Amino acid sequence: MFSFILAVALLPAAFSAPLTTCDRLTEQVQIQGRNQFLGVWTYTAESTNLPGSKALTKLFVDNVWGKIYPANESDSFYVFQVQKMLGRCFSVTSKLTLINNILHMEEPIHATEVLLATSCPDCLVLLSNYTLGGSTYRGLQILTKRPKLTQDEMDEFKRQAACLHLPSPTFLDSDKGFCTDGSASKDSETTDLTPVLSQAQPEYMELLDKLLSSQSGIKTLVQLIANNPTQD
Ligand SMILES: *[C@@H]1O[C@H](CO)[C@@H](O)[C@H](O)[C@H]1NC(C)=O
Ligand SMILES: *[C@@H]1O[C@H](CO)[C@@H](O)[C@H](O)[C@H]1NC(C)=O
Repeated sequence: MFSFILAVALLPAAFSAPLTTCDRLTEQVQIQGRNQFLGVWTYTAESTNLPGSKALTKLFVDNVWGKIYPANESDSFYVFQVQKMLGRCFSVTSKLTLINNILHMEEPIHATEVLLATSCPDCLVLLSNYTLGGSTYRGLQILTKRPKLTQDEMDEFKRQAACLHLPSPTFLDSDKGFCTDGSASKDSETTDLTPVLSQAQPEYMELLDKLLSSQSGIKTLVQLIANNPTQD
């Protein structure tokens, strides 16, 4: 009887324990400067509350790597990101500016990002708000200098997503081979999606937002992409 009462008395402490862990896992850290971001990264996992994102990423995205290099302005840098989708290569270039510990992106979509704590020594964990159509979504990404994460690092990232009330992350597959740096040659196999995204009409982004937010919309998109994998 006594031990039962003790257990009940300890319940609040037992329930608050994970909170302490979440405090640590969702802690925003100070950005030292853009040098911290420069270099070549593997985008190993992502979680976002954009509804259709997980299904589409799982079906179509093999892996993603990125090269981050300085812009002319001292607090800005470019992110050249290469995605392997359906065995083909696509790149997107964006520019980010660091203001008051927050990264701002204007193009190709509007986003703000902060850096979160991680026990992984060569990783960046980025929490973002981004706008698609008229809606704002949250996303969490982990980048590493290595091709893949350890199991412990993946587990910690899953806990971070859970603490932030985001869906369980989608992990990408570095074993499928990364695209090469298509920016080096003009006649490359890499399709640059930057102009398509930057010049997309607001109406198109709103349609995309609607499609990604409904089950039937996601099905439509999946069929569209699956039926046109090699269209140029
Ligand atoms: C960056 O600066 C260089 C040298 O001043 C200049 O040639 C180049 O056009 C600038 N690039 C951009 C994107 O402003
Ligand atoms: C995202 O937006 C919310 C609500 O405006 C804000 O509290 C939060 O700091 C923002 N986070 C980022 C990473 O910009």
